[in-house]
Amino acid sequence: MDSIAQQMMRNPVFSRVYEQLWRPVFTRLFSLGGTGTADVDRALTAYLSRPGDRLVLDVACGPGNYTRRFAENLTGDGRCVGIDFSPTMLSQAARTNQSRRSSYVRADAHAIPFSDNTFDVVTCLAALYLIPDPLPVVDELLRVTRPGGEVVIFTSVRTELSALPGVRQVAGFSGYHIFDRHEIVDRLRADGAEHVEQTITGQGQYVFATKPS
Ligand SMILES: C[S@@+](CC[C@H](N)C(=O)[O-])C[C@H]1O[C@@H](n2cnc3c(N)ncnc32)[C@H](O)[C@@H]1O
Repeated sequence: MDSIAQQMMRNPVFSRVYEQLWRPVFTRLFSLGGTGTADVDRALTAYLSRPGDRLVLDVACGPGNYTRRFAENLTGDGRCVGIDFSPTMLSQAARTNQSRRSSYVRADAHAIPFSDNTFDVVTCLAALYLIPDPLPVVDELLRVTRPGGEVVIFTSVRTELSALPGVRQVAGFSGYHIFDRHEIVDRLRADGAEHVEQTITGQGQYVFATKPS
């Protein structure tokens, strides 16, 4: 059975309010006990929105809030493709975040419908913690990244606050997974990724990695 979190992602009302209401609040909540999730988010968005002829894949794109921004300054044949398995999120993406260089595909992150070594950049933001079996998705992110390309992940991380029993119980009950500090970076390294860098901001972690050329 789907978790509460997974059911929310398929709810049309939640999909409509996600970008303007839920995501900004959630980004701030991730700063609890530390600082700067919003700052890192801004820097990351600026970096991934820079001009260039790139193929970008935004896995678990939700309503396309990042997909459109990653697409808008691309040049040449550059495109950003968002994939998500929620029809309501993709309808919202089509309504509000469609642009000339973005497109959306319904797919499960466990079986990304693209060939190996395709994308210059693959992102998976604010989603791995909702996925019941998340580590094979990390393998998929790297599989579709081209040699020399980048993988960027934003997800949860275990901290003193999130390890408190009440927080753990609510998270477990709602289907929100809290990752051990080394889980994501170890998986990427085991998959052969290079330059794996982790930045922890409060309750969240940003992980950058490169696929060897
Ligand atoms: C919280 S939203 C994140 C949206 C956007 N990436 C962001 O950072 O704001 C999480 C998304 O992950 C999607 N998702 C969860 N499990 C998935 C899976 N197995 N395959 C594809 N998408 C999935 C949900 O449908 C939802 O749209």
